[in-house]
Amino acid sequence: MATVTFDKATRVYPGSTKPAVDALDIEIADGEFLVLVGPSGCGKSTSLRMLAGLEDVNGGAIRIGDRDVTHLPPKDRDIAMVFQNYALYPHMTVADNMGFALKIAGVNKAEIRQKVEEAAKILDLTEYLDRKPKALSGGQRQRVAMGRAIVREPQVFLMDEPLSNLDAKLRVSTRTQIASLQRRLGITTVYVTHDQVEALTMGDRVAVLKDGLLQQVDTPRNMYDKPANLFVAGFIGSPAMNLIEVPVTDGGVKFGNSVVPVQRDALSATSDKTVTVGVRPEHFDVAGADSDLGVAVTVNVVEELGSDAFVYGTAQVGGEAKDIVVRVGGREVPEKGSELHVVPRGGETHVFSTSTGARLSD
Ligand SMILES: Nc1ncnc2c1ncn2[C@@H]1O[C@H](COP(=O)(O)OP(=O)(O)O)[C@@H](O)[C@H]1O
Ligand SMILES: [Mg+2]
Repeated sequence: MATVTFDKATRVYPGSTKPAVDALDIEIADGEFLVLVGPSGCGKSTSLRMLAGLEDVNGGAIRIGDRDVTHLPPKDRDIAMVFQNYALYPHMTVADNMGFALKIAGVNKAEIRQKVEEAAKILDLTEYLDRKPKALSGGQRQRVAMGRAIVREPQVFLMDEPLSNLDAKLRVSTRTQIASLQRRLGITTVYVTHDQVEALTMGDRVAVLKDGLLQQVDTPRNMYDKPANLFVAGFIGSPAMNLIEVPVTDGGVKFGNSVVPVQRDALSATSDKTVTVGVRPEHFDVAGADSDLGVAVTVNVVEELGSDAFVYGTAQVGGEAKDIVVRVGGREVPEKGSELHVVPRGGETHVFSTSTGARLSD
């Protein structure tokens, strides 16, 4: 087991001037499950491949434990990688697929068999050891790919979107299996996904990337409660946080007829006349129809989920029509075309600088 350190690690692809990964700085603890998340093209795979030794590092360093591995070949890094497409050998049985790396490393047959059987037991693959990959379901193939990594007992697991070939339901159950397996084995893991739900549910900590730049590294809870900037605020959470530009007034910011309190320090940190207020859909209180509190939202669409519902509406804020999403209880669903008065719940609002995107509220 080992820590993993990205120390201002930078990758500039040949022919490009802009780094695909720009001075990435993350320290991953021994045994930690760290998820790298961000939209397509933000540099997740490049970061993982730099750690794996599959991509040159053009600046900074990468360490596994105390070892500087920046320029070591992949085979000397003591890592095992699980790819999106599994990359199983079609002509080999499950057992041979799982034991292949050990065979190449010259481990004797009996020991390989023992390790493969142990891993198969953990992964519920024992009865499939003699099958070929084509006779397996997608979920079973995914587990074989995991098994191949496990038998090597590496210091670090690297996984690049390992669930993206599974259907939605299987993805949900498999993500729980991978997370609990990782906790049981205690092997430091760096996991890449574009799916923020996967990131929040699986990671001990989550690192959000955008355009090759690290935006925030934090626990899922902090990431959700205190997004560091507008990008993270909009990326983490579904439906996304409502982000609305509003004028700054005395002692706070005005949101319809409600004033969202903001500390003076935070507001004096910006010279902007407006700031962006963030409210998650579940952080509005619905006031009575004749209320003059908050803002009036005209209901355009209602998405019923049974337990609750999302109301997609329009409100007049600062003289402009803005789209607003509000979560309501499943038994309190408003009619399409009706009007709701919503008030941002105290202590559950976020304030960001409109110009820089930085978080102003604490
Ligand atoms: N081999 C390559 N050569 C040149 N540019 C690349 C190469 N691989 C990736 N890129 C570019 O680097 C950026 C990051 O890519 P990648 O790390 O694959 O993103 P992600 O995995 O987050 O979708 C993208 O702009 C992509 O086009
Ligand atoms: Mg990728």
